[in-house]
Amino acid sequence: MKDNAYFDNASTTWPKPEAVYLFIDQFQRSHGVNPSRGGYAMAVETEAMVIQTRKLLATFFGFTGSANRVVFTANITDSLNMVLSGLLQSGDHVVITRLEHNAVLRTTQYLSQDNGVEVTQVPIDATGGESATQAQSAAGVVSVDAVRAALKKNTKAIVINHASNVTGRVQPLDEIGQLAKEFSIPLIVDTAQTAGVLPIDMQSQGIAVATFTGHKGLFGPMGIGGFIINEDIDLKVTKFGGNGILSENLYQPEQWPHRHEVGTLPVPAIAGLHAGQRWFNALGESIASAYGITSGKGARTLKVALNNDDLDTPLNAKQHALRVTDAVKHIHRIEMRHLEKLLDVLTRFDHVRVLGGVNTNFENPQVATLSFVSNKVSTARIAESLDADYHVCLRAGLHCAPLVHTDENTIAGGGAVRLAPGLFTDDEDMTQLIDGLLDVLG
Ligand SMILES: Cc1ncc(COP(=O)(O)O)c(C=O)c1O
Repeated sequence: MKDNAYFDNASTTWPKPEAVYLFIDQFQRSHGVNPSRGGYAMAVETEAMVIQTRKLLATFFGFTGSANRVVFTANITDSLNMVLSGLLQSGDHVVITRLEHNAVLRTTQYLSQDNGVEVTQVPIDATGGESATQAQSAAGVVSVDAVRAALKKNTKAIVINHASNVTGRVQPLDEIGQLAKEFSIPLIVDTAQTAGVLPIDMQSQGIAVATFTGHKGLFGPMGIGGFIINEDIDLKVTKFGGNGILSENLYQPEQWPHRHEVGTLPVPAIAGLHAGQRWFNALGESIASAYGITSGKGARTLKVALNNDDLDTPLNAKQHALRVTDAVKHIHRIEMRHLEKLLDVLTRFDHVRVLGGVNTNFENPQVATLSFVSNKVSTARIAESLDADYHVCLRAGLHCAPLVHTDENTIAGGGAVRLAPGLFTDDEDMTQLIDGLLDVLG
């Protein structure tokens, strides 16, 4: 039995590709200095790596504007705080959904209480109370008509969680993007659960601001996130401090991205994100070749030759876009296979309810995250048994999206058990988990 059968990828992906670990270590040794502060070669090269990472990410998210509009933050929570606080002021209205993570819910709650911002939480169909059956597979998705109905004259932004971190259900982003375009309202997307798992294209999907976190599907380390924002949006600064640019000025410089990046950047974490991008590229390339990688294990050991000379090589953005799209589709396919197996086990038990409904029609997109409750065995008991007896790493309880738990009636019972397989989940992990589920639920 493995010591750790890891099923907490919705929280953070683990392990990371080997190339990510290696490059963080290598770059920290060769270039552990502050970018954009010094004129010496090491500092300039460090800055080059940071700039390249912005460019790779712009391409990854289908952003056609300047890579200066890729702003690094600590994580997506930080990004959403900055974007929402920078865009919304007293008298403005914002539309969010009841699927949102606390990163959006709490931020808008404070903006409403302290800054006079009006917030509408669009409801989501839920599988509901105790008697709900597993057949309700249409649940968990926001209706575009409901978003349309929530719009007002003073609506200044629509915020949507691309996929729920509780149910894994993917929201109709294309249609909401169309709606946002029709009314010229910026669409802000929380891509925490989808970046690296579903292709995202800001341009064609009508996304004005894509917020991201580095440590989940992008396979970077913790400590790095960001947002990419259309050039026609002016964002008020909400953080203040030095960044090595125009130091004589007592105000933040006008130049993007420095305007919004204060203090020393987390260069080791950016290096990890950089390596992650190159790894996606190599995965896409190997899938396209005759010797394509077909399993998660192959992807993990995928060799990505990264050395510092690469930082001077001009990027081929078109090629990067094609390769990362292939890689992302491949990752999603593998993760869906795991999900199908888990749903097959869980639906054998009448006392089990999958939150958001059982979605096996993957035409209605889904990421590989599901949460369930049982009316026979408590959430706490299931989690304890899987951990103690089967060494399964998972998260049980309330998953930072409290309104989903309210609507799914799972607060009083202590939340739900969440299972989130990933690209690097292997057969042994699956067997360990499935044995545990059959034991504790049977
Ligand atoms: C949908 C969603 N939004 C936001 C977050 C917050 O991510 P981070 O802790 O990296 O800021 C998460 C992570 O759990 C999430 O799943």
